[in-house]
Amino acid sequence: MVTVSVIKADIGGFVGHSESHPEILDLGREEMEKAKQSGLLVDHHVSHCGDDMFLIMTHERGEDSEEVHRLAWDTFTKGTELAKKLKLYGAGQDLLVDAFSGNIRGAGPGSAEMEIEERPSEPILVFMADKTSAGAFNLPLYKMFADPFNTPGLIIAEGLHEGFAFEIQDVREHVKITLNAPEEIYDLLIFLGAPSRYAVKKVYSRNTGEVGAVSSTDKLSLIAGRYVGKDDPAMVVRAQGNFPAVGEVIEPFTTPFIVEGWMRGSHHGPLMPVALKDAHPSRFDGPPRIACLGFQLANGKLIGPRDMFDDPGYDHAREKANTIADYLRSHGPFEPHRLPLEEMEYTTMPTIAGKLKSRWEPLEAGEPAKAKA
Ligand code: F6R
Ligand code: MG
Ligand code: MG
Repeated sequence: MVTVSVIKADIGGFVGHSESHPEILDLGREEMEKAKQSGLLVDHHVSHCGDDMFLIMTHERGEDSEEVHRLAWDTFTKGTELAKKLKLYGAGQDLLVDAFSGNIRGAGPGSAEMEIEERPSEPILVFMADKTSAGAFNLPLYKMFADPFNTPGLIIAEGLHEGFAFEIQDVREHVKITLNAPEEIYDLLIFLGAPSRYAVKKVYSRNTGEVGAVSSTDKLSLIAGRYVGKDDPAMVVRAQGNFPAVGEVIEPFTTPFIVEGWMRGSHHGPLMPVALKDAHPSRFDGPPRIACLGFQLANGKLIGPRDMFDDPGYDHAREKANTIADYLRSHGPFEPHRLPLEEMEYTTMPTIAGKLKSRWEPLEAGEPAKAKA
């Protein structure tokens, strides 16, 4: 068995919140390489999307391994020291606890892990997002694993025809449920369509029981009880054979669907699929970005990556994202570009409400006109 662990954090931005600094990424690579030499990791690849560093690790210690989580935590802590030295912006912003206590979950960084029996050929796709929230993967996961208009394999490939099971987390109540596609899709979509509260954690093949996808569902604002940055989630998807083909996995991103995040984590914006060279959200701190790295696993070794959205096939999606971005921006501080009051990560409402409390007056009788019975 091999475990793929993707653990990510924003430990400092360059410049502002737009990008990771190359020295921080180099530090990440050095720490990962030491862990590989010591035998803790089988392999690693360090990458980034915007101001978030993603540690892509393979090992034989299973999910929730204390040693692997500690390695990630220590790497982020060392990175934070360097970020402070370079006075990078928001140094250590996602490290929400003072000390590591055995598991990275609940400590700030996001994690997506899957333990798998490596197939004779094992293509995996690692998605890295910036300026958006956990739950942003609900729509693409539904399309990949439940929508035959996206994934014809669901109809015409034996291995996919039985459908997939979705494990959904209620990130507010800390409970989970597993629902089966296709027969429960109407139930499934009531939850998936509300990604600020419900997020798909894992997807399983109903044919073999194997895990096909995992995403990070860590909600920074819920952990900290206040705004500390966006979740900027990670996702790992297995492709081909009994799973959707590579092209079916990345097809949902041809639609730059609307996600929460962008400027100050308080706006709706289109999720733009980009090559790594463009994974640095700048315009109005966005628009939100998604990058995708493809690997072939070979006995746990990460062969790759291929930069999957570095493809003219995604040019239209990027153009469309820019058109949507212009249109949404024209709303300025108005909803639905700005998030509803209770979803905004930053708000001055309590201060303003307090200051103006005494100036609110009761409405005149009959105003507004009452609806006729
Ligand atoms: C959104 C994000 C940025 C910041 C914005 C203000 O996830 O990271 O849009 O929210 O640049 O940042 P601060 O409050 O750090 O000045
Ligand atoms: Mg940041
Ligand atoms: Mg970020």
